[in-house]
Amino acid sequence: MGAETEMSDVEFAIVIENLVKKYDDLIAVNDVSFKIKMGEIFAFLGPNGAGKTTTVEILEGIRKKTSGKAYVLGKDIDKRKEMDSLRKIIGTLPQEFSTHDNLTVTENLKFWSRMYPKNLPIEQLIALVKLEDKAKTRCKNLSGGLKRRLGIAISLVNDPVLVFLDEPTTGLDPRARRETWEVIEDLKKQGKTVFLTTHYMEEAHVLADTVAIIHKGKIMDIGTPTQLIDRHGGENKIVVRCNDQETRDKIHDLLFTYGPLENEDGDIVISAKKGILSKVVDLLDENKVNYTDIVTQRPTLEDVFLSLTGEVLVVDEKISENA
Ligand SMILES: Nc1ncnc2c1ncn2[C@@H]1O[C@H](COP(=O)(O)OP(=O)(O)O)[C@@H](O)[C@H]1O
Ligand SMILES: [Mg+2]
Repeated sequence: MGAETEMSDVEFAIVIENLVKKYDDLIAVNDVSFKIKMGEIFAFLGPNGAGKTTTVEILEGIRKKTSGKAYVLGKDIDKRKEMDSLRKIIGTLPQEFSTHDNLTVTENLKFWSRMYPKNLPIEQLIALVKLEDKAKTRCKNLSGGLKRRLGIAISLVNDPVLVFLDEPTTGLDPRARRETWEVIEDLKKQGKTVFLTTHYMEEAHVLADTVAIIHKGKIMDIGTPTQLIDRHGGENKIVVRCNDQETRDKIHDLLFTYGPLENEDGDIVISAKKGILSKVVDLLDENKVNYTDIVTQRPTLEDVFLSLTGEVLVVDEKISENA
């Protein structure tokens, strides 16, 4: 049976069973088990130090596990021969990725393409990451966001079935991040399976079919974004927007029995228990409160993370200057 036939028989791109990785006393990956379906975008969501890169690099055959089992595209990570053949059919964008700065975009892609027997045409790679205008630009003159997109193109030189993208948008400004999301969505449309790591809640929500939340080496839960929010997000919220402190104080007083909180925009937030929205609106109108808007909000993956870990996922935002 040829490699191609074998692969189409694999229902799961990745199967991990009780994976453990210890660095001396530190348990970086703590009894992790999950499966990733072929063709999906999977997001490994967690803060710095959660164990994302360690897991990814064990699956890529770069780091050694301590115990447990894992199969990537049906290949057993314990079998050296299988891993040698696996490397030819996966793509990777490492967290610490760098380009050859004096080479152009095209030259970089040619350089990496030579490493593999099977290649995608360079023009196709450039089109996939929307770098047509920059094909002849030297990498040192690319912004951070464009460099990252070139990194994704490099991960695709061998037309892989499965791509690992380790924090592909960390440090990018919001616009560059969104452009990268489009590229990642296109990978899925091409039929590729994407294993993404991120500490951005919104990124996981927007892109992923399945999200696994990892914290201190442990999987806290796994599911679609909606499933996770339904399970752990808590109730919807009612947000009363207001512009001035006087109004804010007045709303606080009027809604006192609902336990009002204030969000970072200075809006008043209460839990949207059934039937209270109309009561709140009436109360504010009767008292002629000059609020700007009143909306209900679904909980987000941020609420899920908080509820699962008791911690707020703090992102150390170092946006690269030229991103
Ligand atoms: N080579 C290493 N030696 C010792 N500790 C490591 C090593 N690599 C990672 N760690 C530790 O393992 C934990 C998980 O790290 P990592 O997998 O890089 O997490 P993430 O990618 O989620 O930020 C962290 O506490 C980190 O400091
Ligand atoms: Mg990492």
